[in-house]
Amino acid sequence: MRILGIESSCDETGIAIYDSDEGLIGHQLFSQIDIHREYGGVVPELASRDHINRAIPLIRKTLKQANCDLSTITGVAYTSGPGLAGALLTGAAIGRTLAWTLKIPSIPIHHMEGHLLAPLLENPTIQFPFLALLVSGGHTQLIAAKQLGSYEILGESLDDAIGEAFDKTAKMLELPYPGGPEIEKLAKKGNVNQYRFPRPMTDRPGLDFSYSGLKTFAVNTYQTSDKKEQAKADIALAFQTAAIDTLYIKCKRAAEQTGLGHLVIAGGVSANQYLRDRLSDLANVSNIQIHYPSFEFCTDNGAMIAYAGYLRLQKEHNKSLSFSARARWPLTELDPPI
Ligand code: KG4
Ligand code: ZN
Repeated sequence: MRILGIESSCDETGIAIYDSDEGLIGHQLFSQIDIHREYGGVVPELASRDHINRAIPLIRKTLKQANCDLSTITGVAYTSGPGLAGALLTGAAIGRTLAWTLKIPSIPIHHMEGHLLAPLLENPTIQFPFLALLVSGGHTQLIAAKQLGSYEILGESLDDAIGEAFDKTAKMLELPYPGGPEIEKLAKKGNVNQYRFPRPMTDRPGLDFSYSGLKTFAVNTYQTSDKKEQAKADIALAFQTAAIDTLYIKCKRAAEQTGLGHLVIAGGVSANQYLRDRLSDLANVSNIQIHYPSFEFCTDNGAMIAYAGYLRLQKEHNKSLSFSARARWPLTELDPPI
């Protein structure tokens, strides 16, 4: 099998080709960050329009990189949700049209299932069932991944996602978009002893998260500070430490509760080095192995979609000519392939 993957759920156009014998043979990404930066966040209509411009040239570039042509592709996988409706529809329309023209199967992929499977792309020895922590701009979820398509949410954020809290805190500190990597950079100059922020919802049982209060704590701290560069760095550090320490506490609890031996951490925020260092400590105190995707597959990319498509297309595909995109789509509504 040779699967072409298309990711267009937000502000990145990702194209990749996954071959069942050779593995990932091509992957390309175009990030729209420069287009959205002046607005301080993603402008959905601009995102859709840019996906239209980028997708086909990027498919050509990926084929060239993989040294193959379209006739060797045996299936197409595209992200069909959750995400921005217009952006998703662009990738879905291109994916379904390509598959129909080439007379090959195609399959809609859940974006978060793509993230969740990304660490397996490089390490196929990770076996179901495992524990997964999904940390992105729209999700903070602790999941028991029982088998492909069977996911139980053990805990999730009751308000802002962790990536969203990073982005909002960064905006408040007048850092450029996207804020997560900027907070990480600035935090390196922070003084550890200056502030201590709360670890929300860790003093009660359960595995849910809350990040909006932490963001508000950061705003209030900034308002009462001298607003100079050092204060910003101290706040960035205190925020990052508290946000990630909360993940550590909940992951430790989930590992103890479930007894699962592997923890897969994925999504854009898993690119954060402090998160990786801190959560790697868990392996020393719990009987659990921790897995991350490599940095390039933490944030949105086509490789995770091609790989999820490869796993699913072995068993199922969408035969109808219609297609849809789902802006909201709970991971628990997925089914295992039949
Ligand atoms: O998975 P992703 O690329 O897109 C979504 O599906 O949301 O995640 C994007 C999120 C953004 O909130 C971004 O600020 C955050 O991941 N992010 C980071 C880092 N790199 C990306 N957050 C903290 N530290 C980072 N190094
Ligand atoms: Zn994502």
